Amino acid sequence: MAERATVIVSNRGPVSFRRGPDGALEGRRGAGGLVSGLAPLVAGTSTTWVAAALSEEDREASASGVVEADGLRVRTVALDPEDLRQAYDVVSNRTLWFAHHGMLDHFREPTFDATWFAAWGAYRRVNLAFAEAVADLAPEGAVVLVQDYHLTLVAAALAERRPDLVCVHFSHTPFARPAELAVLPEAVRAELMGGLAAHAACGFHSERWAAAARGCARAVGHELTTFVSPLGPDPADLASSTAAPACGEALARLDGLVGDRAFLVRVDRIELSKNILRGFLAFDHLLASRPEWRGRVVFGAFVYPSREGVEAYRRYREDVDRTIAEVNERWGTEGWTPIVYEPDDDYLRSVAALRRADAVVVNPIRDGLNLVAKESVLLNERDAVLLLSEGAGAWDELADDVVPIDAWDVVAAAGSLHRALAMGAEERAERAARLRRVVAERTPARWFADQQAQV
Ligand code: F6P
Repeated sequence: MAERATVIVSNRGPVSFRRGPDGALEGRRGAGGLVSGLAPLVAGTSTTWVAAALSEEDREASASGVVEADGLRVRTVALDPEDLRQAYDVVSNRTLWFAHHGMLDHFREPTFDATWFAAWGAYRRVNLAFAEAVADLAPEGAVVLVQDYHLTLVAAALAERRPDLVCVHFSHTPFARPAELAVLPEAVRAELMGGLAAHAACGFHSERWAAAARGCARAVGHELTTFVSPLGPDPADLASSTAAPACGEALARLDGLVGDRAFLVRVDRIELSKNILRGFLAFDHLLASRPEWRGRVVFGAFVYPSREGVEAYRRYREDVDRTIAEVNERWGTEGWTPIVYEPDDDYLRSVAALRRADAVVVNPIRDGLNLVAKESVLLNERDAVLLLSEGAGAWDELADDVVPIDAWDVVAAAGSLHRALAMGAEERAERAARLRRVVAERTPARWFADQQAQV
């Protein structure tokens, strides 16, 4: 069978445009897991990546149609900036994100008023604009790989314009259970699930999320065809990061900073579902309840701001800052800062931290996969213990060899920190070796092939 042409569609694209020294537009590749995994697979091929224009320079690039940037064929979609803001901040991040992560306290105050429905109109227009861009450029019979909750309605709009195309959806998030999605107005749920049902298949990182999505569809009279295909890191991409001089320099700096203490590490966007605060509170309880760890462990918090257009994220960031300051104030001494906080999105420094860690904390309430957990397994050079909560999609693959950490119970989580930090060298080595084998099984190439195999 002849290979079908492929179009990838995502809200955040693989490159962002800037003006170079000569005034010309240049595309620079982003550092996210999906991008670093997929970019090498599609670079130099006929695959086109369609994404929202997120800056003025991206908007200018959109005027040229499909452009070649950093080896990729990219088409940015220029949207009305206010529509994009409403679709991204209000519908995608303040509504769908919290519903899919089961964070229902965010619906405590009235949400679905006229202002919200105006934002829903913007979400529809953004999805339509994406569908029109894809309809214009997709080769006959192409497979269109739609990524994530920002673009649920693209396939339904494409079905009218280009019935020759086959759309496959992939959710990098978890999916709300039917009782959770029920916080949304019924007509909105019906449109969302009808939008997903317009795809030939819908993919997820975990069967737990696939089952929830099927249940949500059934509740409003739709059937979904689902598949499960967890993503994994690209070992070659990780190797090129560790080989970068800046990564080596960051490693040397962290090494000096930690000395002979144990190094607990977390790397995250400052994101409510990542449960960053309870991780610090667990650490606080560890220091309170087990004095032997005072002065003996450094918690490296490589967490950086995200989605600051949403008030809940801004407030969460303030809580993170305050909690870190309080823990350091309570326990810190002249020569020891318990939590070292570096809130900048420095990818190679984060890679260095994961290489140097003695234990890595990944305790989300709920998470589609959590690629950092898997990256840490391949990057780490000291048989680090991985602390993982059941809410992460990666739990399905890694549970046997992690130290479970409770996402909610701070006292139990402190016990898990102790268990991880106190684990003997032999057990650490055995677990780390098994984790490396499991993680290596799932590459971006396999994930990409699984999506294309749905048609
Ligand atoms: O995990 C879901 C996801 O949309 C990822 O695909 C993406 O890397 C991440 O959230 C960050 O999203 P944003 O584009 O909002 O920064």
